[in-house]
Amino acid sequence: MSTSLLIEQIQVGAYRNFSYLVADLSTLHAAIFDPAWEIESLLSRINGQKLQLDYIINTHAHLDHIQGNIEIKRRTGAKIVMHKSSLALKDLGVSDGEQISISPKVTLKFIHTPGHSPESMCIQVNDRALITGDTLFIGECGRTDLPGGDASALFDSFEKLRRLEPSLIIYPGHDYGKTPSAALGEELKFNYTLAKRTRDEFVKFMSTP
Ligand SMILES: [Fe+2]
Repeated sequence: MSTSLLIEQIQVGAYRNFSYLVADLSTLHAAIFDPAWEIESLLSRINGQKLQLDYIINTHAHLDHIQGNIEIKRRTGAKIVMHKSSLALKDLGVSDGEQISISPKVTLKFIHTPGHSPESMCIQVNDRALITGDTLFIGECGRTDLPGGDASALFDSFEKLRRLEPSLIIYPGHDYGKTPSAALGEELKFNYTLAKRTRDEFVKFMSTP
């Protein structure tokens, strides 16, 4: 079903951010996730593979994930997509559970996962991958002590992630882990931030330095 699906993980910038290029190589339609650094290099990957970039998708609106949006939009005509609660400049605001297809074979499903920030979301790519932004890193999770952060909301978001297919490959927003990606099932076993806790225990855990 998804043999023509391309998911390129690209480490960029000074904070070990990841951008992602997702495409259907049989139609050449594509989306880019969190373009914020090394824009010329991202554009040359898009142009080099003759991709038609339809969407710029942000996992959340922190500057280190969105600051390349405008330049990429100007150069490709792609539409900027974020969760509907984001106040940052966008063309399309999406809701929890909504889907966008970039081709008949590649569908993106938006899962609202507030906690790191109110507009944070994870994006499922077919039955293959979950792009998690700063909600979940490999072996870690995003902080909840920045403005808009909410540990109790992250508890609920993690409950949502626990219900997904364990074979999904987690693609995080930063390269902070031992490996750049890992299966959700592995993270549920080994990521200490996902250990089973009550809500109160989790909120306390997140507020402990
Ligand atoms: Fe962030």
